[in-house]
Amino acid sequence: MDVFEAIKGRRSIRKYKRKAVDRELVKRLLDAARWAPSGGNIQPWLFIVIEDSKLLDVVRKVSPGYFGEAPLAILVCSNKEKAYKVGGTLGRDYLTICDCAMAVQNMLLAAYALGLGTCVVKSFSHTAIKELLAIPEGIEPELLVIVGHPDQTLKPPPRIPLNEIVYLNRYGEKFPNLEG
Ligand SMILES: Cc1cc2nc3c(=O)[nH]c(=O)nc-3n(C[C@H](O)[C@H](O)[C@H](O)COP(=O)(O)O)c2cc1C
Repeated sequence: MDVFEAIKGRRSIRKYKRKAVDRELVKRLLDAARWAPSGGNIQPWLFIVIEDSKLLDVVRKVSPGYFGEAPLAILVCSNKEKAYKVGGTLGRDYLTICDCAMAVQNMLLAAYALGLGTCVVKSFSHTAIKELLAIPEGIEPELLVIVGHPDQTLKPPPRIPLNEIVYLNRYGEKFPNLEG
C-alpha cells in the first residue's frame, strides 16, 4: 500500500469484530514500531502485548478511553532509566515521549496496511496499569494501542486547512496557494 494512502485512510477504530489477531501480524506491527526514528537512536521503547482476554477486560475497566472490544492491546512504554543514562533529563522527560509516539504511528500505519484497525488510547489509569501489568520502576506506560479487525467504516474527521497552520520562512508569513 502506498504510504500516502495509509496516512489518509487510517482511522481510529472503536468497534471491532470478535476475531483474534494473528500473532504473525502482531509481530509485523512490533517490527514496524522498532524501525521508527528515535532521538540519538536510543530506542527507549518497550512493548507489552496484551492478548489475555481476562486481563484485557480489567485493562478496559481502568481505561475510560478504551472503546469497543478489541481482542488485543499493545502498551507502549518508555524506559526512563535507559533514556536518562544516555540523554539526561531531556532524554528522559521529552525524547522518550516523542520516540514512543513515532513508534506508535508506525504501528498504526502498518496495521492499516495489513487490514487491521487500531486506536491510540491515552485515557487510562497510569497507576492501575503499572500494577496490573507488573511494570517496574523506571519503566513508564506512554500509550496504549488497541488492535483488532475493524467492524466500522468511518468518514475522516476534519483536518485544519493547511493555509491556517503553515507559514513560509517566518511566523505569520503566508505560504501561497495552499488549500483553504
Ligand atoms: C496521543 C493520543 C491520545 C489519544 N487518546 C485517545 C483515547 O484515549 N481514546 C480514544 O478513543 N481515542 C484517542 N485518540 C484518538 C483520537 O481521538 C483520534 O486520533 C482523532 O480524533 C482523529 O481521528 P483519526 O485518528 O480517525 O484520524 C488519541 C490519539 C492520540 C494521538
